[in-house]
Formats: sequence, C-alpha cells, structure tokens
Amino acid sequence: MHFFQLQRRRLLSACLSLLICSGLVNGADQPSLTKDQIKQFLLTAKVIASHQSSKGITSPWRLTLSDGTITHDASFQAIDEHKTSMQLATGGTELNFVDSYKYNIAAYALAELLGMDDMVPVYVERKWQGNAGSLSWWLPVKMDEADRRKQQIFAPDSDAWNKQMYKIRVFDQLVYDNDPNLTNVLIGQNWELYRVDFSRAFRLKKDLRNPDDLVRCDRQLLEKLKALDAAQLAEKTKHYLSKDEVKAVMARRDKIVERFQKLVAEKGENEILY
Ligand SMILES: Nc1ncnc2c1ncn2[C@@H]1O[C@H](COP(=O)(O)OP(=O)(O)OP(=O)(O)O)[C@@H](O)[C@H]1O
Ligand SMILES: [Mg+2]
Repeated sequence: MHFFQLQRRRLLSACLSLLICSGLVNGADQPSLTKDQIKQFLLTAKVIASHQSSKGITSPWRLTLSDGTITHDASFQAIDEHKTSMQLATGGTELNFVDSYKYNIAAYALAELLGMDDMVPVYVERKWQGNAGSLSWWLPVKMDEADRRKQQIFAPDSDAWNKQMYKIRVFDQLVYDNDPNLTNVLIGQNWELYRVDFSRAFRLKKDLRNPDDLVRCDRQLLEKLKALDAAQLAEKTKHYLSKDEVKAVMARRDKIVERFQKLVAEKGENEILY
C-alpha cells in the first residue's frame, strides 16, 4: 500500500476509535443519541427508502431516514380510525372504537413521565406522503415475545427479565391496551425488553383490564406513578389524548397504586417491591 494511503487509513481508523470511545457510535452500529436528538432526527431527517412491513392494510411502513451523518430506520404508522361500534376478532363488539397512531405518541410521553422511556421507542408525529402518523426510532431487536415463546428460548438472567416484565405489565394496565399482543413486546440483543404499538390503547375504562397481572412493582416506578399529575399528563399529551382519556389513565393509576399497597400490606414490602 502506498505510504500516503496507509497514513490516511491510520488516520481514519484513529478517528473511528475516537468516535466509538466518545460514545457517538457504538459497536452495534447504534448511534447513541440523547432522546431529544432522536426526536429531532425523527422530525427532520430525510426519508431515503421505504417498505411496508407486512401485507395488512394498516401495517406500518419501515422507513430509512438520513440526516447526512446518521442513517437509521423508523416505523411509520398512520392509522386513525374511529367507529361507533367495532366487531372484534376475539368476538364481542367494542363501542366507540379507536385505532390511532396518536396513542403511540401519547404512550411515549407517558413513558417519559414514568421514567420508562428506555422501554418504549421514541415516537413523534410526522407527515409522510401526505399523511400524518407516528414515527418511531427502530429498535435493535433480536426477536419478539411471540417468537421467544414459540422457540422456547429463555433469557439467561431470569431475575432481570422478570423485573423488566413486571414494569411492562404495570404500563399495560395503565394504558389499557385492548389489543394485547405478544408481537408488541420486543427483545433487544442483550435481553432488554421493549413495548411498542399502542394504537388500540387508552380506552376510557376506569377499571384495570387484568388486575391479576400486577404482582410485583419496581419501587421507582411506583413512586413515579404516585407522583403522576393529571395536569402535567394532559399538557404533555394535549394533541393526542382527550380530557376523558387522561381522566381514565389517572383513575387506573389510582387502582394500580391501591392494588400494590394492598399487596404490600398482605405480603410485606420485600415480596412485592423491588
Ligand atoms: N420502533 C420499532 N423498532 C423495531 N421494530 C418495530 C418498531 N415498531 C414496530 N416494529 C415491528 O413492526 C411490527 C408491527 O408494528 P406495530 O405493532 O406498530 O403495528 P401493527 O399495526 O401491529 O402492524 P401489523 O398489523 O403489521 O402487526 C411490530 O410488531 C414490531 O415487530
Ligand atoms: Mg402490533
């Protein structure tokens, strides 16, 4: 190799190591940006490629975005359907049915308020090809929970796994997802758990959908739940949740906190909180 070429390569590789060490790029090719930088990227980066993830009419598009420096994928979901009555696949009908991308954005805002924004991808509102929708940062996923169960693969650290799963269960009860689905629980490279897709959540019900799912709770999450403020939630979700939807979240919050307080009284704090 020519001397100057060699020098250039050395310089390039030194720059790359510097970038890696400074945390701007990590080994898995995942740029480590702050949540605000991710939001900014999702709001402004150019869409350079697109494909529809599955055959369903409402299925989201997987877009590739680039701002010239960073290239990253994102999921675009534009559904916003409202029906007075909807025949459900599981049998029964749902009145005042809503399936909306807006709830994805509301869910991320709620996750931020609860300190759970590492378990939900950043969702922002963006217009693409004339339609408004939610756009989420594509996560480094190795499989979803449905695949994991099918293949009978287990996390190496079951304690760490359970602790994440208990948090997801609390979040699920809070948002009242009427379409709970194991394909919406995603597993990262190191067995991190993520929850995506809230388009059929935020029902107006003031009772919990499955109170028995609540068995243990992260202490910090419980404190954040107790501190959750209706006015703050309403402000942060103002284009995405109605007044009644916010009220219903707050009513379910009360029931979740009540349930854990009852469990603690019955079984002791160490059995229930971690
Ligand atoms: N941010 C993301 N990162 C990684 N994978 C994602 C992300 N968002 C969505 N997915 C993947 O795409 C799938 C479909 O997305 P989503 O659940 O939001 O829409 P859906 O309406 O359920 O679509 P479908 O009808 O195709 O299941 C998810 O189950 C998940 O596997
Ligand atoms: Mg889904």
